[in-house]
Amino acid sequence: MTMFSKKIACIGAGYVGGPTMAVIAMKCPQYKVDVVDVSEARIKAWQTDQLPIYEPGLLEVVKAARGRNLFFSTDISTAIRESEIIFVSVNTPTKTFGEGAGKAADLQYWEKVAREILRESKSSKIVIEKSTLPVKTAQTMENILNANGKKIRFEVISNPEFLAEGSAIQDLLEPDRVLIGSRETPEGLRARQEIVEIYANWVPREKILTSNIWSAELSKLVANAFLAQRISSINSISALCEKTDANVQEVARAVGMDSRVGSRFLNASVGFGGSCFKKDILNLVYISESYGLNEVARYWESVLQMNEFQEARFVRMIIREMFNTIVGKRIALFGFAFKADTSDTRESPAIHIARKLLEEKSHVAITDPKALDNARIDLAGSGSDADFLEDPYKAAQGAHAIAIMTEWALYRSLDWEKIYKYMEKPAFLFDGRNILDHERLFEIGFNVYPLGRPPLKHF
Ligand SMILES: NC(=O)c1ccc[n+]([C@@H]2O[C@H](COP(=O)([O-])OP(=O)(O)OC[C@H]3O[C@@H](n4cnc5c(N)ncnc54)[C@H](O)[C@@H]3O)[C@@H](O)[C@H]2O)c1
Repeated sequence: MTMFSKKIACIGAGYVGGPTMAVIAMKCPQYKVDVVDVSEARIKAWQTDQLPIYEPGLLEVVKAARGRNLFFSTDISTAIRESEIIFVSVNTPTKTFGEGAGKAADLQYWEKVAREILRESKSSKIVIEKSTLPVKTAQTMENILNANGKKIRFEVISNPEFLAEGSAIQDLLEPDRVLIGSRETPEGLRARQEIVEIYANWVPREKILTSNIWSAELSKLVANAFLAQRISSINSISALCEKTDANVQEVARAVGMDSRVGSRFLNASVGFGGSCFKKDILNLVYISESYGLNEVARYWESVLQMNEFQEARFVRMIIREMFNTIVGKRIALFGFAFKADTSDTRESPAIHIARKLLEEKSHVAITDPKALDNARIDLAGSGSDADFLEDPYKAAQGAHAIAIMTEWALYRSLDWEKIYKYMEKPAFLFDGRNILDHERLFEIGFNVYPLGRPPLKHF
């Protein structure tokens, strides 16, 4: 029997737990890694080559370790009992009910897991917050876990995950940094060191940051808030560019070449999505309010308001430019995932935009290379006037307009002349990601509406 030097469990086999543990297992064959989840369907999928999530390079990493030192199961109790280190990466959505509804984090899944860890454990363990949590959650976790008559001790560590969906494997293999926060007691520092050791198997030491536990919890919320803020900032400027005939791409280039600002996350778009940005900012807003910091709360809240404004004005532009009515017109949405290279559609701007277009009684044809199954679920109950088609050419057949929702690279290399021929005339193209060659599309015959740049119209 193989002797493993560490036994690690991960509770929650989602977008974070699955890829993170697969990379740890691949890089550290000396550790046993058990990934567990309440969802039988998800676990079953992890055991096959039809993984439950799409992420470039994920299948190769899973296959390198699965059955060797990486195991997926629904047996949560055994995984807890047999491990010394437990990562928890269950979901922490925004509360939809009661006090703090619409803002505070819903910690019911996390607390349930903490109680389960407490019930099943027969020895001391390190419990790692991998989920994104409000600052000070570790205190609650410690209180729950250490209120035991068993004489066992739990050290709670905050190790937030900074991976981005679509590039998760690359981000995990070569992270900008890994952050590990702990209590600064001798036991806390020892536990911190154990987790540092795991990452040191492949991450250079200077990229492994350690901090106090509250800084680690807060840093994750702040990192997401700053990223979202950059998107809202450039989107606010895109609206101003449209009024002034400035070109947001030229402005972004000029601003981004300032090394103090940097060029990334300065693409104007239809808005940010994903499961994290909105929820984490709401969290920051709620915490700030609860400490009486109302100005801080309003400041961050405006990042979300700008995102909603950007989605709403995109729909308004479509209706206005298509002669103030889209009733009965076919509009093809190219892309439904919240970003390229993922099947994830959580909080995707495409959901809100598709619903609005359906409310206006248009017919919506949705195409996406990876996210159609999720799109069907997202739009269930929003009326039956939506088609879901793998093939973008079929989605464009008979369409009055195309709206680019996701920056999938494949949309750049489509045969746009063929698409133009398939469409009703005048043919409209709304580029919600500014990814296409607008001049060329205009020459083909399209009326082209980029974001934050003058439109190219034939009338
Ligand atoms: N998705 C991202 O890009 C990303 C990045 C960084 C951090 N995060 C954070 O990581 C956390 C997880 O996010 P995700 O995207 O992986 O979510 P997810 O919904 O994909 O996965 C969570 C999993 O936890 C399982 N689960 C819930 N309660 C459970 C319980 N009591 N016992 C066992 N399993 C349980 C669910 O069945 C689900 O499979 C969130 O806090 C999120 O904010 C996400």
